[in-house]
Amino acid sequence: MANVDDKVSAPNNPVIAVIAAARAWFDDRTPGLMPAYRKHMTEYFAPKNFNVMYYFGSLAMLVLVNQIVTGIFLTMHYKPSAAEAFSSVEYIMRDVEWGWLIRYMHSTGASLFFIVVYLHMFRGLMYGSYQRPRELVWILGMLIYLVLMAEAFLGYVLPWGQMSFWGAKVIISLFGAFPVIGNGLTEWIMGDYLPSDATLNRFFALHVIALPLVLLLLVVLHLGALHEVGSNNPDGVDVKYGPKGNRWSKTAPADTIPFHPYYTVKDIVGVGFLLLLAAFIIFFAPEFGGWFLEHDNFVEANPLVTPAHIKPVWYYTPYYAMLRVVPDKLAGVLVMFGAIAILFFVPWLDRARVKSYRYRGLMSKVLLGLFAIAFVWLGKIGAGPGTDPVETIIGRFLTFYYFAFFLTMPLWTKWDKTKPVPERVTTHD
Ligand code: HEM
Repeated sequence: MANVDDKVSAPNNPVIAVIAAARAWFDDRTPGLMPAYRKHMTEYFAPKNFNVMYYFGSLAMLVLVNQIVTGIFLTMHYKPSAAEAFSSVEYIMRDVEWGWLIRYMHSTGASLFFIVVYLHMFRGLMYGSYQRPRELVWILGMLIYLVLMAEAFLGYVLPWGQMSFWGAKVIISLFGAFPVIGNGLTEWIMGDYLPSDATLNRFFALHVIALPLVLLLLVVLHLGALHEVGSNNPDGVDVKYGPKGNRWSKTAPADTIPFHPYYTVKDIVGVGFLLLLAAFIIFFAPEFGGWFLEHDNFVEANPLVTPAHIKPVWYYTPYYAMLRVVPDKLAGVLVMFGAIAILFFVPWLDRARVKSYRYRGLMSKVLLGLFAIAFVWLGKIGAGPGTDPVETIIGRFLTFYYFAFFLTMPLWTKWDKTKPVPERVTTHD
């Protein structure tokens, strides 16, 4: 690659000359486009030691695009009314050309979105990516996570199956736990006393246009905020500016490489793995044993028949477990929302002097590992029937651990012994 500081000489090749002329034509009319492309792609200098944990940001973008594109096609055949929604989804599955594929791409995409985002967030915890100066990147990420959860919840109501109806009823009724305003709020959200046609219509509007717009905007802001301060990396040390820059630019930090083409090409490997996994699920196990599409949702919504076992989709179950193991309804709701809210404060709770877990002490590593186990275990408890008293006790203990992990973070991150960090980022070459 040429040094980006060099001037490009006039091309001799006629094809290249035509492309250059076309580019000049656009540059004259959209002077901001090429500088933006350079700033975020060819001259976005990222640390050269990214590992596989850095795949998940670009994969999340890929899944977001998949959800939007497949969603548009689903909308062409879906009917947002309580009378027709369920049968319109059946129609998509049986009669619309390739309709089954589009729906399974969308439903599988929803679960893959959360798998990718959870790994992306865990990477942030591992490498302290939320620490100064990337607090805003984390906050915007958390807003994305909140909107994503709302978006998935609204989408799940649309097929108007038994789980759509009863899931919506249970979750919206949670707002009823708030004193004074609770009942009015629940009614206002539903537009009725039960999930009904009015609920379905407004959820459709929010799911297909309002929240996707917010999500897209937040993703742009998330990346904008990241590119202002530059990426963190698995060593958690700042890339150093030397007198010579790097091979591509005299002013870029040493130990960085241009995002495009180096990381765009590297990200294709991650994309390949994700597509393989997605294809396997879509073609061989689209319901994924009831984890991605629940069995009860293949039965049309019936307000007179309550399913034996109402539970949300797997990505909410850690929080659902917390709600259930707390005996008081309002306290349960507060604990559940508190569990998400506390994540916003991680940049200020972590007082460690080093960012990456690579150079943190044993205590930090063990506590983070236990935190991951507690979250997954809570997820398992939340997905169960909730009738086992032993599981309820374990659930309470795990909920306690979840909160203790964050609330005591300022202490143990300060106490824990850290290792000396390397002067410059480390690679395996
Ligand atoms: C639609 C969802 C999301 C998309 C499309 C997205 C996209 C991205 C991309 C492309 C990057 C740069 C590449 C990388 O570091 O992997 C990034 C970085 C980052 N994201 Fe996200 N993100 C999403 C959600 C989240 C969430 C939920 C959080 C945390 C609450 C988060 C926190 C971060 C942080 C801290 C970084 C900087 C990482 C570093 O430099 O080490 N993101 N994101």
